[in-house]
Amino acid sequence: MSAHTGKDITFVVQPGGHIQGSARVPGDKSISHRSIMLGALAEGDTHISGFLEGEDSLATLKAFQAMGVHIEGPDNGCVTVHGVGMKGLQKPQQDLYLGNSGTSMRLMCGLLSGQLFDTVLTGDQSLSGRPMGRVIDPLSQMHAEINAAENKTAPLCITGNRILQGIDYLLPVASAQVKSCLLLAGLYAEGMTCVTEPAPTRDHTERMLQGFGYALKREGSTVCLQGGGTLQACSIDVPADISSAAFFIVAASIAEGSDLTLEHVGVNPTRTGVIDILKLMGADIEIFNQCEVGGEPVADIRVRSSSLHGINIPEELVPLAIDEFPALFIAAACAQGQTVLTGARELRVKESDRIQVMADGLHILGINAQPTADGIVIDGGQLHGGTVLSHGDHRISMSFAIAALRCNEAVIIKDCANVNTSFPGFVALAHGLGLSIELE
Ligand code: S3P
Repeated sequence: MSAHTGKDITFVVQPGGHIQGSARVPGDKSISHRSIMLGALAEGDTHISGFLEGEDSLATLKAFQAMGVHIEGPDNGCVTVHGVGMKGLQKPQQDLYLGNSGTSMRLMCGLLSGQLFDTVLTGDQSLSGRPMGRVIDPLSQMHAEINAAENKTAPLCITGNRILQGIDYLLPVASAQVKSCLLLAGLYAEGMTCVTEPAPTRDHTERMLQGFGYALKREGSTVCLQGGGTLQACSIDVPADISSAAFFIVAASIAEGSDLTLEHVGVNPTRTGVIDILKLMGADIEIFNQCEVGGEPVADIRVRSSSLHGINIPEELVPLAIDEFPALFIAAACAQGQTVLTGARELRVKESDRIQVMADGLHILGINAQPTADGIVIDGGQLHGGTVLSHGDHRISMSFAIAALRCNEAVIIKDCANVNTSFPGFVALAHGLGLSIELE
């Protein structure tokens, strides 16, 4: 049951079909969150186009409105944020409810640690079970004060009016959310804040800070900034989300006779692991019309069906495809031979335990999928049909929807309301491109 809509949604997808045509999927979720946060703290008006009107990025938007920021829109993806400056946020009247959105909670936790007022961050059942120690611990080292529930989970009570100190922090896990959290806290800290990552993760925060005129030093795997600066408003064109595009890239790859073009997709190299992995599996993917829009690389992507084969997924690609594994597991189930994923323990603490939930669903569809502590082993085969549980995880719902293209019976997916967190309009778009999907 979705905490937001109060009603459950089931997808019913008929087997077979192919994917044909061209489409632009909704805006990038990571960039949409950051555009609101930095726009709010900037001096002047930030004009955003292509903003994701999904529940997650809207949760961030509403949270900043609740802190006194005047935000117009979204209107067809256009948002104007009237920045209040680094010290202009006001204490919200109520707790800030962030729904299903881990990005909102982790990034805002850093940003709010530097404010003069106290805040409380809450979320839905899934978000309230996700690990927040990964941000609480380093923020405490910066002298922030955050009180959490048992096991360092939400609700998070953040005490304001603290004097933050810059730190030099080596991330124990490759996480863009933790990196971004600390950089946002670092804006308010005395001295330098430096974050070193064990493997490259998405760098939208760094790119956008520079777009807002904030000086950053990037050296190898370390990024540093000096606290106390200001942000200057700018225009942001949010590209289509490669994480949403991924469902259709896999769909067109696995369904015979498909030919699909996806337009204006963000192809930041810290996000394109899904393309690299699919190409290693034999996918036919062409990237063209490459250009740079507001500091982010963007391109059109053409995908034609191909016969995929199983691979050992290179571990260095894991953080670069972290949100795309549910879709990639469907590709693996349709491939010839075995696919082995290791080094992906993080998947167990996403919106659901994506290793277990995907393995359970694949078993129901007749595929041999063996979960391991930090990955999964999937033997490609014939997918049947059946009823699978998404556990309220948007990406699990959409992954099993596209699996139907290669099933010989219908797939019914329960608990799909949260698809609206990242991909409003998924059903209509998927239907238009050739998937026989209906809502129940
Ligand atoms: C995100 C980072 C990733 C990703 C999430 C969005 C971001 O999380 O899974 O959907 O916008 O920074 P981690 O940084 O925890 O891996």
